[in-house]
Amino acid sequence: MGGTARIMGRALIACIAAASVVSACAPEPLATDPIARGRQVYHQMNCGSCHDPDLLGRRVGPPLDHIGTVAATRRPGMSAEDYIRQSILDPGAFVVPGYPDVMPRDLGRDLSPTDLDALVAYLASLK
Ligand code: HEC
Repeated sequence: MGGTARIMGRALIACIAAASVVSACAPEPLATDPIARGRQVYHQMNCGSCHDPDLLGRRVGPPLDHIGTVAATRRPGMSAEDYIRQSILDPGAFVVPGYPDVMPRDLGRDLSPTDLDALVAYLASLK
């Protein structure tokens, strides 16, 4: 009885390990839903290396958890979507107070229009 449970437990662990290896190796198909696709682009482009907290909770850039709301307040007359788009294409146009002007200038260059729109839609959805 105990032996069977142990063996089944091992098989389960092996399965979980195999499943996570497969999903880590297989390229994730690009989502068609803009917000889901934007989330993928955000991860593929490693935006989180500066915008998500590291193991010690530090970040290089401002948190983007509520950027959909924050963005609408940054520049008078500019919509959240326009501000986010500008932040990606021309990061020096407005530098968030208290942060260094270090966001890479070339991030938008290699993005297809579809992926840029998706990235903007994803960030704007983070209210
Ligand atoms: C090398 C670090 C770094 C990387 C990589 C980076 N950023 Fe930034 N980002 C910053 C910093 C620092 C700021 C704040 C200074 C400024 O406004 O430029 C910022 C500002 C922003 C803002 C404005 C935030 C606000 O509160 O107004 C947005 C939006 C943004 N980044 C999106 C992105 C996206 C999307 C990516 C990936 C495509 C990305 N960033 C990659 C460092 C980075």
